[in-house]
Amino acid sequence: MPVLRSIRERFERERPLEGVKVAACLHVTAETAGLMRALAAGGADTALCSANPLTTQDEVAAALVDDRVPVQAARGEDVEAYARHVRALAGWGPDVTLDDGADLLVLLHDRGGADDVLGGAEETTTGLLRLRRLEAEGRLACPVIAVNESRTERTFNDRYGTGQSALDGILRATNLMLAGHTLVLLGYGATGKGIAQRARGAGAAVIVCEVDPLRALEARMDGYEVMPALAAAERGDLFVTATGSRSVLRREHLERMKDGAVLANAGHFDVEIDLADLRELAGGRVREVLPLVEQYDIGDRRLNLLASGRVVNLAAGEGHPPAVMDMSFANLALAVEHLALHGAELERRVLDVPKGIDEEIARLKLESLGVAIDTLTPDQREYLDSWGQTFSE
Ligand code: ADE
Repeated sequence: MPVLRSIRERFERERPLEGVKVAACLHVTAETAGLMRALAAGGADTALCSANPLTTQDEVAAALVDDRVPVQAARGEDVEAYARHVRALAGWGPDVTLDDGADLLVLLHDRGGADDVLGGAEETTTGLLRLRRLEAEGRLACPVIAVNESRTERTFNDRYGTGQSALDGILRATNLMLAGHTLVLLGYGATGKGIAQRARGAGAAVIVCEVDPLRALEARMDGYEVMPALAAAERGDLFVTATGSRSVLRREHLERMKDGAVLANAGHFDVEIDLADLRELAGGRVREVLPLVEQYDIGDRRLNLLASGRVVNLAAGEGHPPAVMDMSFANLALAVEHLALHGAELERRVLDVPKGIDEEIARLKLESLGVAIDTLTPDQREYLDSWGQTFSE
């Protein structure tokens, strides 16, 4: 993670986070450990809990505890333990919060304490939806930096990160052959686009289901079959949800699926596949056929659910590769610095990542990849400036 490393080295020299209490509710992975170490190098007091009960890498949690970073997380913790851990971080009284799904900052709003937070940074679409709701209700008590919407996060994390890691999680859990099979993708946002692209590259036929006409049109023009989920239900061998919505695959779809169909969720919460409907259809006839693969016998057919419907790239794999998290966590590290230095003056709104951070991260990443690029000639600069346009627009 060369970009994060260069930030960490600067933090070591400048110590911009001296004494700042940073609480992170993030997936506890090796990449997250890299972020926590960069923040500590900047002088921050840090504490970490997981953003999901099934995504903690226990060996990483143990290594961080050895480094004297308090970690409240264990892989497979139940929902009660998960909630207790998030509560513990909220009770610590953080100055800055980092979230992957907004559980920590929303809790601080619900139980009190958000007024004392200098600011938060959020790295998922789902988390931003929740925080924008608080803003719309006039309840947002601190500034929030929408790290998820920086270009170096969204393009690379969602498209390339989830595109690869969701399929990686599915393949690790099932050893399924993609070529010759039909993958039904529900949701053609940035994440869905990545999954569709990678699945097609591996030889799968891809069907896209969408509710947004523009995205559906884009999927069609990208060369995928587009149809309603009810029609796709009969065609798919593998179903992947990536919508951020709930009950996307429910009884009416489950009843139409082929024997042996595989169901996986790539969205943040475990609500996209309707687990209550699946359980009801199976009436208790459920068995674990492989680690993280539960087979539901729904009469004349069996459906295979991966990772209990939780986010499959982290629950059945290791999440996005470090090469992608490098940029995501560089954004988070710089957002923390910005909040520590300027949080008190910022508006209590959901804010863009400060200008210049995106370009800086992309420049460092290119450098680390040994890729050089052109610069505008003075003549070109003058021409573009005359239209009020900059090179990154
Ligand atoms: N989200 C997706 N992949 C991740 C990873 N490797 N570490 C932390 N959060 C993630």
